[in-house]
Amino acid sequence: MWKSIGTLSIFQPSHDYTPLIPLPNVSLLARYRTAIKLAVAAGVLVLIAFIISPLHPVSVAREYGILADHEPIPSIVHFVYIRKGEDSVIRFDFSAFLSLFAAILYVNPSKVYIHSDYNTTAIQHAAATGGRWTRKLMNTWPELVVWNQVQVPNYAGPNENMRIDAVQHKSDFIRWDTIGDHGGIYMDFDVVTLKPLTPLLNAGFAFVAGRQYGGKDEGGNINGTINNGAFLTKKNSAMARIIKREQHAGFDGKWEANLKSMTRTAEYLVNVPNQVLILDRHAFAPTHWFPDSTHPLFFPQEEGLPSLEPVPTESTDPVEVYDAIVKMRRARRDWEWDFSSSYMLHAFGTSVHSRHVNPKLILSRTSNYGVATWAIVKAMVAQGLIDGTEDENYGDS
Ligand SMILES: *[C@@H]1O[C@H](CO)[C@@H](O)[C@H](O)[C@H]1NC(C)=O
Ligand SMILES: *[C@@H]1O[C@H](CO)[C@@H](O)[C@H](O)[C@H]1NC(C)=O
Repeated sequence: MWKSIGTLSIFQPSHDYTPLIPLPNVSLLARYRTAIKLAVAAGVLVLIAFIISPLHPVSVAREYGILADHEPIPSIVHFVYIRKGEDSVIRFDFSAFLSLFAAILYVNPSKVYIHSDYNTTAIQHAAATGGRWTRKLMNTWPELVVWNQVQVPNYAGPNENMRIDAVQHKSDFIRWDTIGDHGGIYMDFDVVTLKPLTPLLNAGFAFVAGRQYGGKDEGGNINGTINNGAFLTKKNSAMARIIKREQHAGFDGKWEANLKSMTRTAEYLVNVPNQVLILDRHAFAPTHWFPDSTHPLFFPQEEGLPSLEPVPTESTDPVEVYDAIVKMRRARRDWEWDFSSSYMLHAFGTSVHSRHVNPKLILSRTSNYGVATWAIVKAMVAQGLIDGTEDENYGDS
């Protein structure tokens, strides 16, 4: 409570403190005040040390992840590309090249793995004779991008007797089996990295994932589950080890059930310090796979003006960068979405909308996907990889 005394304001406690034990003689207290405080403090410290020392020696604390080791998640990027059927061939569209290029641009990885069940002959054949974007993807970074041959599981379940049919499920198994062993960043080929991931790799967690939306057709079952198309993990993180174990044992062919049990596992692991960081839906998967999301993401605007190009800022001052972003947002078009809080764009529906993903259309800044990925395609042009006028999604010869 503030009391005014003339022009001075003096703060006084609004209640009186009632001591539980009689106060010691004031003069004695005054004389020994410092000594008493020191003795009490020392006593408390000794007591705390005594209590915690047998329970939490440093090694035990480390074992339980209470003391963070500051090893970051490794800058290794993983993709999975497996055969859909007996006679499928390797064939990439521009969106896949964009996904790989963006990962290299923003992650600066030491390696990019493409885990695949295609054999060397098929890989060499596609790299030599595939369409424009297939050849670009396979030949641009011969040192960096490594094809890793994997055995695709056909059976799982409690007695290894459940047939794994869907290619997405097979891919699920590969991603957890192989990425858990290496550590790094997993992404589907329809995920585009939008920002450097270094802050997340160094966040001090063994596993970082984001939630996703679902649609009302799924009864809200998927809404809020963890998106398994883009995640970051240390080698042998608890999350990777548990999922690997449980997805083999618990496989029942149901996609929804898989996502829900994975989400539950991640949530339980938040209890173990430094194991799991769960980000919101905007972080990696700001859109979903239903038309009310995919149409406004991919379709170019037929009328109206294209989105304005961002004005580049040289500043590294966070507030000046912020001001530049606000200025851009003020000049946005009505249809323009904001990807500010997204590190990655898991662009569900990319394969269906492949024809709307090409350099020319993206550089025209007339679709939301284009606005999100414009800077990446500009960087491709700057590096001399494309000239920016290409308008085909496959470029098959
Ligand atoms: C490689 O795979 C192709 C089909 O993609 C098959 O026709 C060919 O026999 C395989 N080659 C070897 C050496 O296994
Ligand atoms: C998903 O959940 C969010 C937050 O609870 C909600 O706002 C949104 O309407 C839900 N979407 C669907 C399609 O159920």
